[in-house]
Amino acid sequence: MTKARRSGSVRAALGKLGVLLPGLGAVATTTMAGVFLARRGLARPTGSLTQLGTARLGGRACALRDLVPLASLEDIEFGAWDIFPDDAFAAAKHAAVLSTEHLELVREELGSVRPMEAAFYPQYVPRLLGPHIKFAPSKADMVEQLRADIRAFRRERGCLRMVAVWCGSTESYLEPTAVHDSVEAFERGLLRSSPEISASQLYGWACIKEGIPFANGAPNLTVDFPAAWELARTHGVPLAGKDFKTGQTLMKTILAPGFKARYLGVEGWYSTNILGNRDGEVLDDPESFKSKEVSKKGVLDHILQPELYPDLYKDLCHVVRINYYPPRGDNKEGWDNIDIFGWLGYKMQIKIDFLCRDSILAAPIVLDLALFMDLAARAGMHGIQEWLSFYFKSPMTAPGLYPEHDLFIQLMKLKNTLRYLRGEELITHLGTEYYD
Ligand SMILES: NC(=O)c1ccc[n+]([C@@H]2O[C@H](COP(=O)([O-])OP(=O)(O)OC[C@H]3O[C@@H](n4cnc5c(N)ncnc54)[C@H](O)[C@@H]3O)[C@@H](O)[C@H]2O)c1
Repeated sequence: MTKARRSGSVRAALGKLGVLLPGLGAVATTTMAGVFLARRGLARPTGSLTQLGTARLGGRACALRDLVPLASLEDIEFGAWDIFPDDAFAAAKHAAVLSTEHLELVREELGSVRPMEAAFYPQYVPRLLGPHIKFAPSKADMVEQLRADIRAFRRERGCLRMVAVWCGSTESYLEPTAVHDSVEAFERGLLRSSPEISASQLYGWACIKEGIPFANGAPNLTVDFPAAWELARTHGVPLAGKDFKTGQTLMKTILAPGFKARYLGVEGWYSTNILGNRDGEVLDDPESFKSKEVSKKGVLDHILQPELYPDLYKDLCHVVRINYYPPRGDNKEGWDNIDIFGWLGYKMQIKIDFLCRDSILAAPIVLDLALFMDLAARAGMHGIQEWLSFYFKSPMTAPGLYPEHDLFIQLMKLKNTLRYLRGEELITHLGTEYYD
């Protein structure tokens, strides 16, 4: 076993935790409703590591929340921004993820979450237009308005700590440019309302400046560029992203490590999705889809390492499609055809038809990220939180490092980080202690 270096020095989770979700759509409202239901004992938070997870500690299973001090669900205060003025109850009805029966049970709590006006520029999400938006002479002023919202929320709700998780729409594909190179360049870009700075970047910037940990659930650039990393470092703020790992990519990062572990070749992986929610409508736009495609396609290359195993994976044909199909609503169908080969090159096929519910898979991720990002802040961790890669399709890493996609390595990393924070020995799975 490896000795941990750090001895448990995490501040206690005292008082209220404000959880700010820019984008009050299907994922955000499903998260909120689930937390409200769970804290009244009316439903189980299935899929959430912080609520159900355990770690091995001295030969017994210990609940993760007993291993490290996590905020309790009772202490969460939700806030949101959206371009539509609907409160969380109306937005949840519109998203049609949860049944009316479930929503009615927490109608009051959901109804009390009213979104703040959004920072929004239609060129980054061409399929959306809404009336509940802020006006500002420059993007620098827009950041200041978001900061004022954050401070007012903190004051009015009496929050001692805050975190933010981007649950807004996927924006058009943007590459980092000179404006993203340094804090100074970005601040200058804000003053001249640079078109390379999208709305989600403004939220990220405002949160970092307010000392609020920020996790990004969409594939957007948002906080994944040198200026944001630098600002996070100087403000001591944890960052994480990008793009919640749900549905098809979750299945890929479960299956691909298995193929590689058995040295089975993969010739082709064709993935197609049909979905009919607002997210699907946004992704119907080619530029928004490009952000998603980049995020979805990186996964297999990193797991299978074709440069190391050219005979098995060099010519892998990986195709990803998303089709907007309104009748399906939030109940996505992810269909995969995998062409593999084994002993002597004999070919086989695997077909997966995952009739999944997107937001049901994403909601526990939002909750876990909120609680773990708050933990990271209390533990004095800042910058990119790579140990939270477990939750992302396209994990943020330090420059020059490659992202880890294998779900099982990611989980070990996450749990070992918790052990490290607590000052416990790290698990190596060597198991020699049982035979000594
Ligand atoms: N559901 C999943 O499984 C899943 C998985 C990975 C990533 N995501 C990402 O999570 C995000 C949310 O997904 P969803 O299904 O809830 O989508 P959604 O369309 O239901 O909700 C997004 C909300 O964001 C709002 N919005 C857009 N731009 C905004 C802005 N600038 N400020 C404030 N609000 C803004 C929209 O009005 C909408 O209400 C999307 O980016 C999606 O790609 C979802």
